Amino acid sequence: MCGIVGYTGPREAYPVILKGLKRLEYRGYDSSGVALLNNDLQVYKKKGKVAELEESLIGKNVSAHIGIGHTRWATHGEPSDRNAHPHLSASGRLAMIHNGIIENYALLKKDLVNKGYQFHSDTDTEVLLNFIDDIQQNNNSTLEEAVRIALKRVVGAYCILLIDRQDPETIIAARKGSPLVIGIGKGEHFLASDASPIIEYTKEVVYVNDYELAIVRPDELILKNIGNEKVTPYITKLDMELAAIEKGGYDHFMVKEIFEQPKTIYDCLRGRLDSTAGTITMSGVQNYIEELKNANRILIIACGTSWHAGLVAEYIIEELCRIPVEVEYASEFRYRNPIINKGDVIIAISQSGETADTLVAIDNAKEKGAIIFGVVNAVGSSIARASHAGAYTHAGPEIGVASTKAFTGQLAVLTMMALKIAYEKKTISDERYKNLLIELDAVPEKVDAILKNAEEVKIIAEKYKDCSDALFLGRGYNFPVALEGALKLKEISYIHAEGYPAAEMKHGPIALVTDQLPVYFVATKDSYHEKIISNMQEIKARKGKVIAIITDGDTVSPTLADDTFAIPTADEIIAPMLSVIPFQLLSYYVGIAKGLDVDKPRNLAKSVTVE
Ligand code: G6P
Repeated sequence: MCGIVGYTGPREAYPVILKGLKRLEYRGYDSSGVALLNNDLQVYKKKGKVAELEESLIGKNVSAHIGIGHTRWATHGEPSDRNAHPHLSASGRLAMIHNGIIENYALLKKDLVNKGYQFHSDTDTEVLLNFIDDIQQNNNSTLEEAVRIALKRVVGAYCILLIDRQDPETIIAARKGSPLVIGIGKGEHFLASDASPIIEYTKEVVYVNDYELAIVRPDELILKNIGNEKVTPYITKLDMELAAIEKGGYDHFMVKEIFEQPKTIYDCLRGRLDSTAGTITMSGVQNYIEELKNANRILIIACGTSWHAGLVAEYIIEELCRIPVEVEYASEFRYRNPIINKGDVIIAISQSGETADTLVAIDNAKEKGAIIFGVVNAVGSSIARASHAGAYTHAGPEIGVASTKAFTGQLAVLTMMALKIAYEKKTISDERYKNLLIELDAVPEKVDAILKNAEEVKIIAEKYKDCSDALFLGRGYNFPVALEGALKLKEISYIHAEGYPAAEMKHGPIALVTDQLPVYFVATKDSYHEKIISNMQEIKARKGKVIAIITDGDTVSPTLADDTFAIPTADEIIAPMLSVIPFQLLSYYVGIAKGLDVDKPRNLAKSVTVE
């Protein structure tokens, strides 16, 4: 959460920072601000989205060649101008931005208050900043030294950028737990939470590691560890195009990303799946095939939509590989002293690769000797780097806050993994294996066919957009899709929605059914079809509105449903990659019909880098 940008070099810093903040707004949009250093240190900040900051600065002197900027997802202190970053130190000498949480801030604040410091915000950031300022003044040390001393006393997560009024060329940066990328230009440097603000200027970047400190000047990048030893920066070449982070003619990132799925799923399968030869090539899986094949248990850890992908994977891996699978919320897993035995494998799923809970859960499991397999979208991200092995989903940058194309990418990777392990383990017949490879190969085309009928979903969305609640029901492989459908609708349209296993609905949610309640079913033709038909009857008998995702050619379901949307036939293992698409479209069209900001829904952030 929170996006940070910094620039030092010959360009005007403000336009670089402003554009960067707009690209990072998916990380939080409660407030934003910039600190610019020319002869003077100017700090401008504003509650609300970056556009509001931009408007408030029209006509102001924003000329500078060094600056830092921040877009905030509030943790300590409500969204307001005064809690917005950057913060200025009491001496007025330093400005700082921060992504993360300082857990022991109250203790540090108490000491500072005793020394006479006054605070102008409710943030933990202002406390850390004054703590650094205090060390610098008392020890007469350089800013770099003061930061290093301060961070040794800090408990929590951070990525911080500081500028010093008395040093008009240098940005000091440090990270632990929150991401930081430094772009290397010719006589200039760019700093950001991810590569999107940098890509336009340079493709050479350094991913800063935890407990590293960077001293960044136009012509110089020095990396040190917290013990003050120099670290050689490892330069990575970005494999990302500017077009991938722009809307490309669509009104919103969310709809662009939904419609990109035939291509992103194809990109994910490409080079890995060869249905003619009957092979799956995944080097990460191959390198750990013995551990995966012989795993006593697979533990999947993730959050949000990625957790739903994990639930689908549980069904697939247990069915195909006959390995027991447990799926855990990372935030629960990390705090409950889980039992991890020799022979357990952890699969961590994450779009951003930066989710704090997932990252810490991985670290904990690693300490207990588990093997970590990462299924990650963001290349070079912290989770990708913390994993022993992994497979990227190759969905490209996902910018809409609600995850769409990353989910289908995750399913594609996890299905290929399961097939590969099952084949090696001989828990799948040759015939079923080959059939499933052919089925997987056909997914991009089938998703394309679904998207061609998007207008039908729009009509359904118009019809039910004003309902205050909704129920999503599914069984088997499609139960997690029901959860995902409910999550999408909640996130994007603010309609209260619950996802449930269709049969379990009788144990509670059925009490909510009235003739006003839309109940969305995944009723595709699979081994649960007859059962789900009965569940539809049960809702119909209570006058609920039934909207069903059905398989092309099904003539029974439409007789029970008020509205249907047909998707192509597919093996039930593959079906979730198709059945989720109408639900993604539904939430998008409902959100649009209600005039909401679908790319930046209320209170959410895409990359949750605080626990
Ligand atoms: C946030 C996002 C979700 C995402 C979840 C997990 O809540 O809004 O779309 O599913 O984080 O993020 P990750 O990057 O780990 O998949």
